[in-house]
Amino acid sequence: MARIDEIAPDVFRISIYAPQQEMQYNQFLIRDEEPLLFTTGLNAFFPEMKEAVERLMKPTDLRWIGFSHFESDECGSLNKWLELAPQSEAITGIVSAFVNINDFALRPARILQNQEVFRTGKKQYRYISTPHVPHGWDAGLFFEETDHTLLTSDLFHHNGDVVPLTKESLADHCRETLIQFQQSPFANYIPYNAKTGQILKDLAELRPVTLAIMHGSSYYGDGKKAIEELDEVWKEVLKD
Ligand SMILES: [Fe+2]
Ligand SMILES: [Fe+2]
Repeated sequence: MARIDEIAPDVFRISIYAPQQEMQYNQFLIRDEEPLLFTTGLNAFFPEMKEAVERLMKPTDLRWIGFSHFESDECGSLNKWLELAPQSEAITGIVSAFVNINDFALRPARILQNQEVFRTGKKQYRYISTPHVPHGWDAGLFFEETDHTLLTSDLFHHNGDVVPLTKESLADHCRETLIQFQQSPFANYIPYNAKTGQILKDLAELRPVTLAIMHGSSYYGDGKKAIEELDEVWKEVLKD
């Protein structure tokens, strides 16, 4: 059964641990007038995810489905959610909609421009286009501006069945996981290209207070410093 923890006001982390991979898959349900699910989790997780969402709200009331990039753990069960919740729509950037979602999904996505702001009730989000960060041409991130929560997708990935929320620096854990990946068939998981540093600097300037992390513990504290530390780790492990 998925574990649920409220990591920021009305931000619920729904965590499914995959023991074979020693890795958590964390999805975030943000309860509001128009509830938003950030990442659906793998298609295979749908029954477990539906049961978890049911503990928090009526799943048929889901309004928005967000994700960073086109990958199974980000949006694998998108069509199942679109089928279940009649008013739900994917919400994503232009590249994502044109290249993947508007062909793959049962109905077209709501398209956001880079830096576009939208409201779901009391919460306000900013969409930030982040090509190839963490990976994928279509990548983007959502920043919940009301409570300063950055939904980080694969940024800060660290393995293990870790605690839901921490104030401790994640840098060492992220370095360890990234090195493991680099030494495995999954090497080059994250490309560090000429624009990566600037994208991370811009994300740091958002000064998030909570980092809602897809694989690993979420973080609460100085989000700017945490992103700067992550950039150092990425440079150290990934840069040629
Ligand atoms: Fe990914
Ligand atoms: Fe992921």
